[in-house]
Order: sequence, then structure tokens, then C-alpha cells
Amino acid sequence: MQTNNVLPGSTIGILGGGQLGRMMTTTAKHMGYRIAILDPTPDCPAAQVSDHHIVAAYDDMEAIKQLAEISDVVTYEFENVDLDAARYLEKERVLPQGAELLQVTQDRETEKRRLVDSGLQVPVFAILEDERKLAEAVAKVGLPFVLKTCRGGYDGKGQMIARTEEDLAEAGQFILDSGRCILEEWIPFEKEISVVFTRSITGEITFFPVAENEHKNHILHKTIAPATVSETVRDKALVAARTAAESLSVVGTFAIEMFVAGEQVLINEMAPRPHNSGHYTIEACNVSQFEQHVRAVCGLPLVPVFFHGAAVMMNLLGDEMTACLDNMDSFADGHLHIYGKKGVKPNRKMGHVTFVGRHLEELVNKLEEGTVIRQ
Ligand SMILES: Nc1ncnc2c1ncn2[C@@H]1O[C@H](COP(=O)(O)OP(=O)(O)O)[C@@H](O)[C@H]1O
Ligand SMILES: [Mg+2]
Repeated sequence: MQTNNVLPGSTIGILGGGQLGRMMTTTAKHMGYRIAILDPTPDCPAAQVSDHHIVAAYDDMEAIKQLAEISDVVTYEFENVDLDAARYLEKERVLPQGAELLQVTQDRETEKRRLVDSGLQVPVFAILEDERKLAEAVAKVGLPFVLKTCRGGYDGKGQMIARTEEDLAEAGQFILDSGRCILEEWIPFEKEISVVFTRSITGEITFFPVAENEHKNHILHKTIAPATVSETVRDKALVAARTAAESLSVVGTFAIEMFVAGEQVLINEMAPRPHNSGHYTIEACNVSQFEQHVRAVCGLPLVPVFFHGAAVMMNLLGDEMTACLDNMDSFADGHLHIYGKKGVKPNRKMGHVTFVGRHLEELVNKLEEGTVIRQ
């Protein structure tokens, strides 16, 4: 593990140059760091605002070595980092987050098992190497269920829902096509929440307010903070997050998505990086999830978190971005973030807009009346 502080003026290397890398970069630039991005796409969102861009595949070891050479510390914006690359960077003492966090979170099986081993509650699940044990797994988990590929899924990709026996043939085919899968009980949740927090190399933790997430077609649509949940639920969520953080020796900003059913809190998934549901912290807190992340990986002290009171963040997917830009007056009170992606594709995260207020009820009412989004 790297122990020396990496001070402004030094270079931070980032694996991945999408919107998370871009927001890490702009924050780190404010703080006086230089940024090197490794991403295969020329002119990717983060490369547009960074100092260096190594255009290469994530598993190109020559490129990884080059990144390690020019960087004083390396971090990542996504969990699907090539593990050989991560282990190399750890050995070179430039990856304070370590390779294990990635190894655990880039596979839904290892992730769930680690949570269970830490005494945390997750939906009932079964792992399927192939389709032969499907009937046995369905007998254990029940219907409806959701089937997810163990690796590589995001924004609802690599998932299918089976509601009745009639969907089982399709489920079998899904496993045949996708390889090892996790079959999870369908949780009839009342709310989805997330806990975004940051842990330093020395084990200090700061939490951002628990946020409430609304998904559309399995993709995050809206985040509201603070989550409108009981104190018991909020406390359970924070305790679960702390337990996971300590069990995994998390370094950096980290997010845990949870389902709330009654007073029960079940962990859905974890992300070892800043998270879409933490974007509201940019304007609604004194310190953002990105600044706290940069501080953690650079070994700087974390800033105690204060919250301005209320925030609503909405993702701009595909054409929603164009609609928003064509209608700027309507979004006048919103903080606009556009990621600089080249192609507009349906469901692609193109940007987001955040509304901040002092009181949640007031902000939500204003949004509903359209006085904040004037339509
Ligand atoms: N077991 C489940 N029960 C109910 N809803 C689920 C379940 N698993 C996933 N979902 C829904 O699908 C969304 C995306 O699934 P998730 O596991 O978070 O994958 P992704 O990596 O695509 O974000 C969740 O936020 C939730 O709305
Ligand atoms: Mg998710």
C-alpha cells in the first residue's frame, strides 16, 4: 500500500475516461493536480479536460506501465479494471485502493459472498455455472426472480426478469448465452437507496447523506437527497455501509445500493468508485464525492461533510440531453453537467442536472409545480 501523501502538483492517473473520470479530473484540476487518462476512445469525456491521454486498451500492459510511470498515484472510474493491470499497479505502489476491492466487486458472486460473510443481508440468491441447475435454483429462490450475468453488467444490461414458469425457457437460454449467472429473488421494495461514503488510507470514513434512487428501465433516472426513510432504516443503511467498508478495507469514494422493504434493508450491489447517485454532492454538499475521492487516494485529510438540505438530480439519457439544451430556460434553476460524449444513443448517460434547495418538501413541490423546471 502506498503511504506517502500525493500533493497538488503531482499527477493522478485514471483508468477510464467517461463521465466519472471527467468529474474526478475537473475536481482534481481545481486542486492543482495533473491528470493522465488511460482510455481507448480518443477525445473521451475525461480526455477533454485532462493533461495526458494514453489511447490504449485497458489490458494493454505497455500502456499500463506507461501510466504507472507518469503518475504518482493511480485510480479508476469503473470496477471492470483488468485484474493483472490492477495487481501490477498495486505492486508498483501506485494503487492505494488495491486490487482486491476490484476483484470482489467486479463479479456479482464474489460480491454477494463477501457481503454474506460480513453478516450483511442480501436478496436470496443462487449461482448458476450453466443452465442445468436452473430448476434447483428456482426451487430455492422462487418466482419472480431476476437473472444477472456475474460479470460485466451495468445499467440493467445483462439482466432478465422471470415472472412465471413460462419464462423459464428464456431464462435457460439467457444462461446458455451469457455464462455464469446469479439468480436473485425479486424484492418488492418500497424504495431504493444508496449510501455513498469515502474512506481514507488510514481508515477514517465520511458519509454523504443517504440518497433515494428512482430507476427507469433499470437505469438511474432520479436521485433525491436526503432519502425519505425512517431513522431506523437510515441507521441500518449507514451501519451496513460501515461494516462493508471495514470488511473490504475500502479506500476512496464507494457506493452501496440497497433495497428498502418495510424496515428491512437489503444490499443490492456495490461500486468501488464515485457513483451516479452521488452526483448531487457536487452542488449540494460543501465537498463532493469526487473531491473526497481525490483526497482519499492522495492521502490528504477528508473534509467533514455538510449538506445544504435538499437535492434532486436527474440524469439526461440520450435525447433528453438535446431536449434540455433546446429548452434551457426551463432548466434555469438547475446545475447542468454535459459529459461531452460524441454519439447520442438511447439510454446513454449524456449528462445530468441537479436542483438544490434548503428543504426537500419545498424543492420537490417546486419541481412538481414546474417553477424550477419551467415547462
Ligand atoms: N433482486 C431485485 N429485486 C428487485 N429489483 C431489482 C433486483 N435486482 C435489480 N433490480 C432492479 O434493477 C436495477 C439494476 O440492477 P443492479 O443489480 O443494480 O444492476 P446494474 O449493475 O445494472 O445497476 C436495480 O437498481 C433495481 O431497480
Ligand atoms: Mg445498480
